[in-house]
Amino acid sequence: MAPYRIELRSDTQTVPTPDMREAMAMAEVADEQWGEDPTVLELERTCADMFGREAAVFVPSGTMGNLTSMLALTGRGDTVIVDGLSHMVGENGNYAVVAGCTLLPVETDGVLDADMVRERLDSATIPPARPALIWTENTHNVRGGVSWGPEVMQGIVELAAERGMRVHLDGARIFNAAVDQGVSVEELTAGADTVQFCLSKGLGAPFGSMVVGSGETIERVARYKKMLGGAMRQAGVMAAAGLIALRDGPARLAADHANAQRLGELLADIPGLDLIYPAATNMVFVRVDPEVLDQQRFVDAARAQGVGVADIRPGHRLRFVTHHQVDASAIEEAGQILRDAAESAALHAPAGAIG
Ligand SMILES: Cc1ncc(COP(=O)(O)O)c(C=O)c1O
Repeated sequence: MAPYRIELRSDTQTVPTPDMREAMAMAEVADEQWGEDPTVLELERTCADMFGREAAVFVPSGTMGNLTSMLALTGRGDTVIVDGLSHMVGENGNYAVVAGCTLLPVETDGVLDADMVRERLDSATIPPARPALIWTENTHNVRGGVSWGPEVMQGIVELAAERGMRVHLDGARIFNAAVDQGVSVEELTAGADTVQFCLSKGLGAPFGSMVVGSGETIERVARYKKMLGGAMRQAGVMAAAGLIALRDGPARLAADHANAQRLGELLADIPGLDLIYPAATNMVFVRVDPEVLDQQRFVDAARAQGVGVADIRPGHRLRFVTHHQVDASAIEEAGQILRDAAESAALHAPAGAIG
């Protein structure tokens, strides 16, 4: 059972649906490391087709999908240009320790476009070590779950071609972005050399990510996956859940987005909480006013009533993420619980209160 009745800390907190559990129990399996697991092969073929790419590879996590993509697209000493708040920047320095790359960060509002990359590359006082890779993220997690459209990717891809660079897309939540933009994942990701996306986030699978790309690139990604110990054995058990996630997940995301909008309205109405970004896709980020609310007491009170809230320190930030295991009525209930929690964590009595 999940730790909180209304789990809003992350869309990684979903538990497998009955269909997933059944598919997992019945999955045909063999040794994935030997390239023989039929369910993994089916998942990889399904993903490659969905994204209009030659090949795909199943990896244990988004972190490994990102890292193996970087390894496949760069050499040691190369520079990766990236939004300074990309998830990859926080993956424990793996870009430096394992891939041997340095980062050239750019400040954005969640949408890194070709003009920003050009400006950053051309204005560096000390020229960066060989700029090899443009790193993108859609939706952008830490910048509020914002999504961006295919025209931005097209600009990035053209610039990369001009400069002899490659393009990676961290699409942990690319299906959320596609729903938000009203386009297919194929259209949204066209031109990127590698796309990593997570089965284990909004799509609801218990495990795993995919990397899609050309046959040659995916061969390199798969080699690095094996080098890092990511090759698996009877992984069809997990791939079976991934196939159900791909079948059922995308159609549910619009409801998650509507729920996040509604939650944003409810949160914005609570004294002491301000939305940091407009609610976007399945995320709401709020700032806690330290003059008005005791953040720890607020979070503890919400959790005590069964609402899981992600406490992102430092900076008085909280994150709420919707997913298919929180429905519209749970959002209304969470809104009331959060309002009560804020009252119990208020630092000053409301104006006019007596004694
Ligand atoms: C944008 C983004 N990229 C990558 C990851 C890493 O995925 P994993 O936790 O599967 O390693 C996450 C995880 O939350 C993410 O939000």
